[in-house]
Amino acid sequence: MGSSGLNQKDILGIEDLERSDIELILQTARQFEEVNKRAIKKVPTLRGKTVINLFFENSTRTRTSFEIAGKRLSADVINISASGSSLSKGESLLDMAKNIEAMNPDIIVCRHSSAGASHILSRYLKASVINAGDGAHEHPSQALLDLMTVLKHRGSVEGLNVAIVGDISHSRVARSNIYCLQKMGASVSVVGPASMMPRDIAKLGVKVHHRLNEGLKEADIVMMLRIQRERIVQSPFPSLREYARHYGINHENINALKKDVLIMHPGPVNRGVEIDPEIADGPYSVILDQVTNGVSVRMALLYLLSGANSLSL
Ligand code: CP
Repeated sequence: MGSSGLNQKDILGIEDLERSDIELILQTARQFEEVNKRAIKKVPTLRGKTVINLFFENSTRTRTSFEIAGKRLSADVINISASGSSLSKGESLLDMAKNIEAMNPDIIVCRHSSAGASHILSRYLKASVINAGDGAHEHPSQALLDLMTVLKHRGSVEGLNVAIVGDISHSRVARSNIYCLQKMGASVSVVGPASMMPRDIAKLGVKVHHRLNEGLKEADIVMMLRIQRERIVQSPFPSLREYARHYGINHENINALKKDVLIMHPGPVNRGVEIDPEIADGPYSVILDQVTNGVSVRMALLYLLSGANSLSL
């Protein structure tokens, strides 16, 4: 458990966090944000600590920002991917993790295609584990950086209407954001075709819409999702063109939204499918702010789990 007030050994999902934990992470991230704006973006906070990034699924944003976060905190950071590891020789994830733990790392960051992979590691390892995305289950650091982005633009999420649009069934981002936004007082809707909607999604307390215009009418924040083709066996819609026509955000349907709406996307973006280029690059979009905030949020997570007792800013 970190010595800095976070009541957790690991960060496995937003479902496990209290609102006070989320507030502490965000408050810490805001302090590291200042470090990230300096000419010399490095503090000694995690000197002598070792962070191992295990990425068994492709990633650009999450992997890079966990690496940058660790390095800006002066931790020793090691990156391992499936293809360059002994997993390719038949070693199990758990055996591999136990062997890595024998080298005494402090924090293991794990992305894996199987839901629950980080939970298994956390059960058997003494090192803290951060879930960097596990199958269609959770992506907690994404929801936290999304929250930071909304807070920076709106000040609070209390009472905001947030619409999450697209492939809800396969989206760990949707699940983590639903938990996070509701804990912070927002009202969440999910919008998408029935074939991309989990049967029992309403049990999470969200409103469910199948028509884009109905789902976005009241939205203060719109989170567009990528179709998770890597998790889809049989196409849930006739064609990408059809999907884009019914569920993509474009220069026509953006005009029906609130004038101060924020358009978000966790990336990677499929331009012309879930979002048109002029919207992704336009005035409503905060997509690159999300990426920027990811570094500060991940610095906060590493710091809070590390046992370090000073931000050393
Ligand atoms: N948002 C996100 O997880 O992006 P990457 O897959 O590039 O890490």
